[in-house]
Amino acid sequence: MARKMEKEDDSKRGFPHYMLKEIHEQPEVLERTLASVIQGTSAADMLGVDAAYAQKIQRVELVACGTSWHAALIARRAFEELVGIPATADIASEYRDWPHRAREGTWVIAITQSGETTDTLEAMRAAKAVGHRTAAISNVQGSTIAREADGALYTLAGTEVAIASTKACTCQVAALLAAAIAVGRLRKSLDASRERSLVQALENAPRQVKAVIDATADVAREAARAHTTEESFFFLGRGYGYPVAREGALKLKETSYAHAEAYPSGEFRHGPIALISGRTPVVAVAPRSKQRDKILANLQDIREKGGKVIAVGTQDPELARSADRILPIPETDEIAMPLLAAVPLQLFAYEMAVARGREVDSPRNLSKAVLGN
Ligand code: AGP
Repeated sequence: MARKMEKEDDSKRGFPHYMLKEIHEQPEVLERTLASVIQGTSAADMLGVDAAYAQKIQRVELVACGTSWHAALIARRAFEELVGIPATADIASEYRDWPHRAREGTWVIAITQSGETTDTLEAMRAAKAVGHRTAAISNVQGSTIAREADGALYTLAGTEVAIASTKACTCQVAALLAAAIAVGRLRKSLDASRERSLVQALENAPRQVKAVIDATADVAREAARAHTTEESFFFLGRGYGYPVAREGALKLKETSYAHAEAYPSGEFRHGPIALISGRTPVVAVAPRSKQRDKILANLQDIREKGGKVIAVGTQDPELARSADRILPIPETDEIAMPLLAAVPLQLFAYEMAVARGREVDSPRNLSKAVLGN
C-alpha cells in the first residue's frame, strides 16, 4: 500500500491531484503540440488537406462532445473568420442521428481527447457514410477514431488522468487554430501579415499560460474560498469568450457539483438575469475585445442587481470598476485568447472542488471516455 501511494505521488509529480498537475503541464504540452503543427508538419497536412482539397472545401462541420465540443465552438468561429467559409459545431450525439443535409464539399472534423467516445465515433461514421471527407483530432495515438478518419492530427498533451479535461482541451484548441490558419493559407483567404501575427500569438501562448497560472492560482483559491457554499453560478462571455465560459461552467459542475450555467452575456438579459442575487455569483470572460464595452455594461447591470462578479480579463481600471474580483490574463489576439482565459477557470473549478471536499480527479457518475449506445 505504501509503495502504491509512493508511486501515485510520483506520477503526480508532487501535486496533490492529477487535475492540478495537468493544469500546470499546459505550458509544456502546448509548446510541444504547437511545435508539431506549426513548426513541424502543417496541421492541414496531418488532417489530410492539401492545396487541391483545400480549394474544394465549401463547409466545415465540427463534431464532438463535452469539453471537446467547446473546442469545436472556438474553432467554428476561427474557420469562418480565417478561411471565410461556413462552419458549424455540433454535439456529436445529436449529429450522429440528425446530421446536416449532405452538401458537396463538406469536410467533417471529429474532436475527441480519447478517440473512443461512441457518440463522436458514430457522428464521424455517419459523415463518412454519406461520402464526406473526415478528419480526427485525438490525444491518443492509434485511437479508433484516428484509425478510421481520412486524416488524423494528434495533440501531444500526454496522458490525461483527471476526468475533468484541462490540458487536452487547450491542446485541441491550439491544434484547431493552427488548422484554421493552415487551411486559410492554402486557400489564400488569410493575408501574410495576419498569418504571421496569429502564429506569433499562438507561439506566445505557452509562455503566457505559465504567467497566467502564476498570476491567478492564489486569486482562484481566494475566490473559491469566498464562494465555497454557493450552489448556483452563471458563466458569461461573448464571441470567442462564450465557449470559454461554457467550458468554465462544465469544469465547475464536474469537479465541485455546484450548478453552473453559461450564457452569451448579451442573452443573459433576456431572462436569466431574474435569478441574480447575492448568492448567485457570475463568472465573466471579459478580455479586451471589440465587444468589451458591452460586456462591462452587462456586468455593471448585474452588480447593480446585487450579483457578485468574478472576471477573467486584463487587469485595468475599467474592468476593476465592473468586477468584484479579477483573474488576470495578458492581452493577446482575440483568437488565441481562449488558450489563456480557460486556465483561471480551470483553477477556479479545481479550488472549488478542493474547498468543497470533492473527489477532484474522479468525480461521481463520470468516466474518462463515454462508451456505448
Ligand atoms: C471533460 O472535462 C469531460 N470529462 C467530458 O465532457 C469529455 O470532454 C467528453 O466526454 C468528451 O470526451 P472525448 O474528448 O474523449 O471524446
